Amino acid sequence: MSRVPFIAGNWKMNLDHQQAIALAQKLHWTLRDVGHNYEECEVAIFPPFTDLRTVQTLADAEKFEIQLGAQDLSQHDSGAYTGDVSGAFLKKLDMKYVLIGHSERRQYHHESDQIVRDKVAAAFRHNLIPVICVGETLEELETEGAAAVPLRQVKAALAGHETVAEFIIAYEPVWAIGTGKVASPEDAAAVCAKIREAIGELLGEERAQATRILYGGSVKSANVAGYLRSPEVDGVLVGGASLDATEFSGIARFQKHIGV
Ligand code: PGA
Repeated sequence: MSRVPFIAGNWKMNLDHQQAIALAQKLHWTLRDVGHNYEECEVAIFPPFTDLRTVQTLADAEKFEIQLGAQDLSQHDSGAYTGDVSGAFLKKLDMKYVLIGHSERRQYHHESDQIVRDKVAAAFRHNLIPVICVGETLEELETEGAAAVPLRQVKAALAGHETVAEFIIAYEPVWAIGTGKVASPEDAAAVCAKIREAIGELLGEERAQATRILYGGSVKSANVAGYLRSPEVDGVLVGGASLDATEFSGIARFQKHIGV
């Protein structure tokens, strides 16, 4: 089964809504000018909450083929949860995707595996496709190896759902995020393969083969091809380098570098 590569830009807490318009517009133009084929390689951006309405309006008006997502959602649908954002609101804004369990959420907002699981359930309830982020810290890498923690996190995030709709997994070693350090393409592919195996055990082989698994952590246009050359890696989740339209579109054009 062929899986459409997925190139995701996580803007994190960068760019206000006016700056977001400029970057989204530039990215759209840059990819249009190089004749990017979105059916062969999907591109999605994940701006901050306060930018979403503005970027969505622009995307609508200009008929963007770039897909949109949010960086988080509440596990609850509505009510007394000050500061939280419901999946229902994101769906109303035509968001297609939502990041869940990014290591910065796990670390700074104490999101446990249970919370991540409940957020995945909320994404399914609201027809959002969760991009479930998993990855080990340096300490965990040293004590447990690369795959143990991501596998545990994947299993926890997918446990106990009545029905499981489409989801994406992003394997991001915490020690590689924003540090310039990267997992080798071989190591990243090996962990992605184990994650696929675990999905197969949990949800069946067909689902495992259909699920896109991304690598993330200091991905740039200069190193992206190494990851995507492996059939196990179906895309990348990009932080810092997604804030530069030329660099990010270079990442989306990875096929040029690997000659497919
Ligand atoms: P980075 O971030 O590309 O800046 O390392 C990746 C991420 O956190 O998703």
